[in-house]
Amino acid sequence: MKTFPTSAVWCFGILFISVSLITTGSSEVQVVGSADRVVALAGDDIILPCSLKPSVSAEDMTVQWTRLNLKTEKVHLYLDGRNSYVDQFPSYRGRTSMFHEKLKNGNVSLKLTRVTLSDAGGYRCFIPTLMKDTTVQLFVGAVSQPVISIDGTKDWGVVLKCESGGWFPEPEMEWLDSSGTILPADGPPERHRDSEGRYTVRRHVTVDKTDTNRFTCRVQQPEINHLKETEINVSDDVFPKSQVGLIVGLSILLAVVVLTASAGVYKWRKHTEKNQTISEKIRYFFRGR
Ligand SMILES: *[C@@H]1O[C@H](CO)[C@@H](O)[C@H](O)[C@H]1NC(C)=O
Ligand SMILES: *[C@@H]1O[C@H](CO)[C@@H](O)[C@H](O)[C@H]1NC(C)=O
Repeated sequence: MKTFPTSAVWCFGILFISVSLITTGSSEVQVVGSADRVVALAGDDIILPCSLKPSVSAEDMTVQWTRLNLKTEKVHLYLDGRNSYVDQFPSYRGRTSMFHEKLKNGNVSLKLTRVTLSDAGGYRCFIPTLMKDTTVQLFVGAVSQPVISIDGTKDWGVVLKCESGGWFPEPEMEWLDSSGTILPADGPPERHRDSEGRYTVRRHVTVDKTDTNRFTCRVQQPEINHLKETEINVSDDVFPKSQVGLIVGLSILLAVVVLTASAGVYKWRKHTEKNQTISEKIRYFFRGR
């Protein structure tokens, strides 16, 4: 009866010493991620960095990648020397991998292919063997080429419309002339968001004829450092020139009419004056007699 507690004490003692040896031995090993967030565009393949410093081999360790969403999602598990997809969150199926040949260098980075906007967030790289972890932030943006169309005319100008969909985060949209000067648009950009959270932005500008008739629509998103431009060469014929011609024509016609009329009136008055003089002379002549 007395020997049992003694052996138990021994067992615990040995266990305690081994655990402290392991922990002191591994306490210098740090799990390092990235202080900067990883910025990607939807559709990109990315690497979420995570490594052991100093670079001890992680080949015999367990590596658990999870996403810190509302609920923790299991993204990737490396266990007993191979990948395990048990309980993997469905949206990551077939998109995750680790660099097995790099594990011996302590590189436990995760490769994630074809990222989507909904992949954005914090990812935890956890090494249960070391009881250590780090978190890497993933930011996903989306861009698209703007499309320009001619939306009619207004006064002497042409109304241009620029539209660009599928952006994230919300981009800025500007109209520029051929020298790169920002043009005053016909109001602020209109925007709407689709069910996936992507923005569509639209903006109109009324332009007058210039020597190049070249105009540019620029869409940019500084957070993801992306810029897309589309230019248009508006043909001269599109500008409401015919109306200008009509007005000039009408003015000339009016001037001609006025001139002709005044000339006519002048002639007619001259003529009547002359007749008057003659008849007065005649009257005078007969009165004299
Ligand atoms: C890990 O290995 C991958 C693949 O070679 C490499 O792209 C990545 O930069 C490495 N990460 C670190 C932290 O060394
Ligand atoms: C507009 O015209 C310029 C000069 O002729 C040309 O370089 C450019 O490619 C044209 N752009 C488009 C969109 O047609």
